[in-house]
Amino acid sequence: MPDFASSLSALTGESTLLYQEIARNVERTKGIKTINFGIGQPDLPTPSRIREGAKSALDQGYTSYTPALGIDELRSKVAEFLSQRYGDRILKEEVAITPGAKTALFLGFLLYINPGDEVILFDPSFYSYAEIVKLLGGKPIYVPLRFDETQGFRFDIEDVSKKITSKTKMIVYNNPHNPTGMNFDRKLTDELYNLSSEKKILLLSDEIYDHFVYDSGFKSVLSESGWRDNVFYVNGFSKTFSMTGWRLGIVVAKKDVINKIGVLASNIYTCPTSFAQRGALHAFETMDEVRSMIETFRRRRDAMYSEVKKIKDIKVYRSSGAFYMFPDFSEILRKSGLDSKSLAIRLIEDGGVVTIPGEVFPQEVGKRFLRLSFALSEEKIKEGVARMKAVLEKLADEKEKR
Ligand SMILES: Cc1ncc(COP(=O)(O)O)c(C=O)c1O
Repeated sequence: MPDFASSLSALTGESTLLYQEIARNVERTKGIKTINFGIGQPDLPTPSRIREGAKSALDQGYTSYTPALGIDELRSKVAEFLSQRYGDRILKEEVAITPGAKTALFLGFLLYINPGDEVILFDPSFYSYAEIVKLLGGKPIYVPLRFDETQGFRFDIEDVSKKITSKTKMIVYNNPHNPTGMNFDRKLTDELYNLSSEKKILLLSDEIYDHFVYDSGFKSVLSESGWRDNVFYVNGFSKTFSMTGWRLGIVVAKKDVINKIGVLASNIYTCPTSFAQRGALHAFETMDEVRSMIETFRRRRDAMYSEVKKIKDIKVYRSSGAFYMFPDFSEILRKSGLDSKSLAIRLIEDGGVVTIPGEVFPQEVGKRFLRLSFALSEEKIKEGVARMKAVLEKLADEKEKR
């Protein structure tokens, strides 16, 4: 076989999926039922109206190619929903439907990154950003988020500003944020938007968790009146409507950017799945169900926070967005001599509890943290945190005996 393309050597292959694999092995070999704080999707089924829509599309034989940018009705519905939510008049021609938000992100990078271009990312951030930037020959430039136990994570706009050079092509913003569970303050979103627009740098804004906000309002970059000049907006159906396996993502950008996506789409994947799009036409009719899911998640967040807070040596803050908690395990790592990866593996193997080590989310900051998802029942949350506590106590005992 010939060698793989040299660009592939940039990929680490690191992802959250590895820890699910270890968990499956532990379940098989030790017969333990694991509790999964590693999951990145709601545990509730897709609302029935959406499922029925897709089923009847299938029954009607709606199984052919669709337009590359998605069906007009769905693009219009997305445009209408976002226009109402953010107060601007977003046009159908400014919306593309993609096979999942990950594809939307990939297209965003593909459209703009030339080898050598710099892309500003927050540290930590969703692992795919850096991987794709590197695959395309770009260079991730990290701005560390600052952590404080009571406020959670924040960034300082001066830190971002200092990283801008003549090679900076793009800033990637993800709000609410994976893995930290922050819904960043409105002021920070404004500052970042203003900086990128002033410097004429593209702002790729991944707002896939936009409905998962718990304490204060959420500010979308689409509510900035000048967004068309420098925003590439990404969202999707996966999280809000519990549709991860349906693979439906959303891009909002200026019309000529969307047209370029059409060209790429027709060469790469032709179109998003036909009957899935027909199901998604009903998504915005289910907002009552979404709101009730968010209330459930708020209770889960509170349950997880109060349980984790009881564990000695962990610093935790109450997440304000997404469905992740990102506690600081530095003390435990220092005392046990483990790194976050080995600790996550110990938690799976000894306690049957799955977490994601922060170092999966590049680059440096995450190494002191573990990501815990609260997308599971309060009962499981309590049981999982109790298991985690037991493993940590055992680790402390082992250290004392040594
Ligand atoms: C921040 C972020 N963006 C994008 C995605 C990908 O979403 P999709 O399943 O629609 O590809 C995820 C999924 O975990 C995510 O956490």
